[in-house]
Amino acid sequence: MGDLTTSGWTDADIERLLAPVARELAAPTSLSPLPYDLNAGVPDRASLPWRELAEAAARALEADPGGALTYGGTLGYEPLRAWIAERNAAETGLELNSSWVTLTSGSAHAIDNIAATFTAPGDVVVTGAPTYPGAIRTFRARGAEIVTVPQDGDGLEMGPLASALEAQRAAGRSVKLIYVVANYDNPTGATLPEERRIELARLAAEYRALIVEDDAYTGIDLDGPPPTSLFQIMGGEGILRVGTFSKTIATGLRSAWILATPRVIQALTYMRFDNGASPFVQRMIFEYLKTGAYDPHVARLQGIYRERRDAAVSALRERCDSFVTFEVPRGGFFLWLRLREGLEARALARAATEVGVAITPGQMYYAYEGGERNVRLVFSALPPEQLHDAITQLGRACAAARVTP
Ligand SMILES: Cc1ncc(COP(=O)(O)O)c(C=O)c1O
Repeated sequence: MGDLTTSGWTDADIERLLAPVARELAAPTSLSPLPYDLNAGVPDRASLPWRELAEAAARALEADPGGALTYGGTLGYEPLRAWIAERNAAETGLELNSSWVTLTSGSAHAIDNIAATFTAPGDVVVTGAPTYPGAIRTFRARGAEIVTVPQDGDGLEMGPLASALEAQRAAGRSVKLIYVVANYDNPTGATLPEERRIELARLAAEYRALIVEDDAYTGIDLDGPPPTSLFQIMGGEGILRVGTFSKTIATGLRSAWILATPRVIQALTYMRFDNGASPFVQRMIFEYLKTGAYDPHVARLQGIYRERRDAAVSALRERCDSFVTFEVPRGGFFLWLRLREGLEARALARAATEVGVAITPGQMYYAYEGGERNVRLVFSALPPEQLHDAITQLGRACAAARVTP
């Protein structure tokens, strides 16, 4: 037998073996090594409740080591599913129980589970333009064709959505999913007003497309609660509501859920190949929730992020007013900047790198063309003073990158 350690595998060998889609997808986002990271949508590190989670983990292990450390089933830990169902029932007035909930490894995985269950190659998924790049990558990876609908300052525009649905029907194609981040959108920060939600619900029901309501930032309310959820408007039918503990507890938990009718939940479990998400983490989270610490923690986070949003807004007005315009988001982590004349997103992102600031060019959020005149700025990750410094630097980058005609 020859020496298998010197068999000379090259990158080209791997390239040849890749599934075509793994070559074609846009690169995943990553954390930046620059001094000021306004790029990654991550929570404030200092407020991660690690001590409470450590105690909760110990309790979960002591209470039932076998339950925490062996396979927990695809649906996930029942008491946590029941807790999520109860919270949603209290919010919506609908009758829900744990059979309406399945637990996933983050909402990123939830979106993939939904895409795998409902889309075959060539099926249509409607998203906003712009939208969350993870959703674009996921739907593409599952073979779906993405049809985009423009977004304005209030989110998805209903006229173009109606036209898109009609055009697909006329072409004899099936729109399976309409993906929407109705509260504090990534990247636009927009919140869909109630009238648009009602119209979206009506259109989805008329065209028999399922709505995927991605609630990743729900809870990060900076100006009071958001409008009625799409899930409530639709009475829980024809919709999958995706929630996550990422932004309200910690992204590293990789713990999220899908809320939908029991029939839909059952279908989703058939397209799970991971033997379920971590029962240990689910039990730890449940122990933490039982202490009653969650709601005060979220209220504290709201205070922290409100202060950061306000600091970012005043620094932008002070330092970047002649370069950008924007709307103030009611929640979430993001400011979506429109670049004034003479600025282009990629050129600005490069100039920002030169002065130690990472921002994301708008093109990242478009399934097709678009975004040259926008950048997304994350206000959640840095404290107010650092945000101020970062935005001062950004102002310098704008001045350097502006092309005068
Ligand atoms: C809109 C949206 N959905 C889903 C996710 C994924 O979050 P997680 O998988 O951590 O729950 C993100 C993360 O940034 C997001 O912005």
